[in-house]
Amino acid sequence: MTSTAMRLPSTGRLADARDRPLRDLRISVTDRCNFRCVYCMPKSVFGRDYAFLDRDELLSFEEITRIARVAAAHGVEKLRLTGGEPLLRRGLEGLIAQLAELRTPDGRPLEIALTTNGSALAMKAASLKAAGLTRVTVSLDSLDDELFQAMNDVRFPVGRVLDGIQAAHDAGLGPVKVNMVVKRGLNDHEILPMAEHFRGTPFTLRFIEYMDVGTSNGWELGEVVPSAEIVERIGERMPLAAVGATAPGETAARWRYVDGGGEIGVISSVTQAFCGSCNRARISTEGRLFTCLFASEGHDLRALLRGGIDDDGLADAMGAIWGARDDRYSEVRATLTPELRAARPKVEMSYIGG
Ligand code: GTP
Ligand code: 5AD
Ligand code: SF4
Ligand code: SF4
Repeated sequence: MTSTAMRLPSTGRLADARDRPLRDLRISVTDRCNFRCVYCMPKSVFGRDYAFLDRDELLSFEEITRIARVAAAHGVEKLRLTGGEPLLRRGLEGLIAQLAELRTPDGRPLEIALTTNGSALAMKAASLKAAGLTRVTVSLDSLDDELFQAMNDVRFPVGRVLDGIQAAHDAGLGPVKVNMVVKRGLNDHEILPMAEHFRGTPFTLRFIEYMDVGTSNGWELGEVVPSAEIVERIGERMPLAAVGATAPGETAARWRYVDGGGEIGVISSVTQAFCGSCNRARISTEGRLFTCLFASEGHDLRALLRGGIDDDGLADAMGAIWGARDDRYSEVRATLTPELRAARPKVEMSYIGG
């Protein structure tokens, strides 16, 4: 297919009810994962009997590509493939190749990023790059092998993830970002070792405040390590300076080591919500469009696609959903009592994607 065939005319200026544009589409390609991270897919919930989606419930690669093409017409410039663990989706390179054909209304290719646990990256980095993937972000919560294995709860060794990170860099999938979710009392003693390890490497380490996504992880506010504390702890050893204004809608605040050695990022969705500029939409594995990571309900695009809707109809439907969007959960969270928070139904991160 030619690139012009994969381009729809711009739909004009699309803004939600809070005047936020749509720029970033995060696509979950599987709800399965080979890890059972304690804060995301605890074994007590995601055990042997857990009902994952069947194959025919998943969006096909063609369906995903159609949605992404319409999203590009609405202003999306960046796609992120997530899961579960996206590298478990069979033939993922084929999807990436289709997405790489897409163009913005002014003819530019979209950025195609992937969030992975890194377990299959050493094996797949080269083929992902060849298919057209732009870059990867790898989740890594500890360098301590014993703790890492306990956190992923499937005894996966940290060395193989580190090999995957290097392989992604070598394959040209950089700049590779490394995401560490910090949970107090579990892995916060790994903040400094992680910072020291990645300082002066081509990899950008980002610390993520543990969030109350889904209902499986039993989140408590006391388990969150505020980003300000992380910056302080690292800065005492290795002085840091804030890197000025981030790009609109960016999740991470950036800090650089004063004497060189690169940057870190902190993602503070609990202590400093960034909903005001949130330009992200999410597509679940079965084709529901979610306008917030913390939404209770998605909009069923799969039903529209399988009902035979044409591209104009799909564009209208997606435009109407975005236009009505008023979400800002992370800003509202602080005003909710624990009871109200618990009563609110939320989808799991493994279903909707990070
Ligand atoms: P780049 O900076 O382009 O690499 O991407 P990013 O920061 O958009 O994406 P990434 O997937 O690396 O996001 C990092 C983490 O930030 C996710 O795993 C989530 O924990 C968190 N996050 C991402 N987007 C949102 C969001 O819209 N809301 C909230 N509350 N958290 C988010
Ligand atoms: N809080 C913050 N980040 C989370 N992730 C998964 N669950 C949570 C949570 N409760 C992150 C993972 C990975 C991405 C897919 O989402 O660490 O980086
Ligand atoms: Fe862990 Fe990511 Fe898998 Fe969740 S989706 S269990 S965070 S590897
Ligand atoms: Fe966007 Fe919702 Fe996250 Fe706020 S909580 S930044 S609106 S996804």
